[in-house]
Amino acid sequence: MADNYLEKRYEATLGSQKPKIKRIGHTMDELLRRTRSCRGYNKDYVVKRSELERIVGACTKIGSAKNQQVLRYRLVTKGPEADLVNANIKLGGMLPELHLPYAGTEPEAFIVVCSTVAANSYTYVDLGIALQTIMLKITEMGLNGIVIGAFNKNEITRGLNLTLEPLMLVAVGKGIEKFELTTINPDDSRAYYRKDGIHYVPKLGTNDLIIND
Ligand SMILES: Cc1cc2nc3c(=O)[nH]c(=O)nc-3n(C[C@H](O)[C@H](O)[C@H](O)COP(=O)(O)O)c2cc1C
Repeated sequence: MADNYLEKRYEATLGSQKPKIKRIGHTMDELLRRTRSCRGYNKDYVVKRSELERIVGACTKIGSAKNQQVLRYRLVTKGPEADLVNANIKLGGMLPELHLPYAGTEPEAFIVVCSTVAANSYTYVDLGIALQTIMLKITEMGLNGIVIGAFNKNEITRGLNLTLEPLMLVAVGKGIEKFELTTINPDDSRAYYRKDGIHYVPKLGTNDLIIND
């Protein structure tokens, strides 16, 4: 069947008027625009375990190499475990002078993504899919998050009594930061920066992502 078969059938029966797709909630672009890495949180909002469960629930529907589903998720809510995680992560490494997060704005809920197998390249692809899914779900729920790769693996493993290898963390909370995406040229710096209370995130444009043929 030709790629545009359905389109042609619609046109034949309905004229050029295509059926309207009713969008519920965020569009993909909107969701992606709002899904920014957040390094400051409102501690008055305490993330519940049930919210973390909902977020991980999104990972029951994602792709996985050979459908092996080797990733597991350890949930951490406000309390001594969250304090331990905070003592063993590094946020905002590109803005060292700011010492992020500012005192009193630390995240207090985390999802620790672990693997049931010794991590290989497939595990890391699964991991990327899971992390982006988690981040999108967090945004959809009106919360904010950040993927954290800079963490002390030994201390997190010991402190949370993990029997599986932790690969990456995600902090979750109600963010207090303002973000803006900017479009940059390939030669420009990729470093995120802050100005007048806004966290700017430079991104390459579509034409710079596509390889010239
Ligand atoms: C795999 C991965 C690991 C990351 N680790 C950290 C980290 O340890 N600390 C941190 O502050 N940000 C971390 N980030 C967030 C990136 O700095 C962030 O994605 C980047 O600055 C672009 O900002 P954006 O997520 O708002 O687009 C990580 C992101 C990814 C995808």
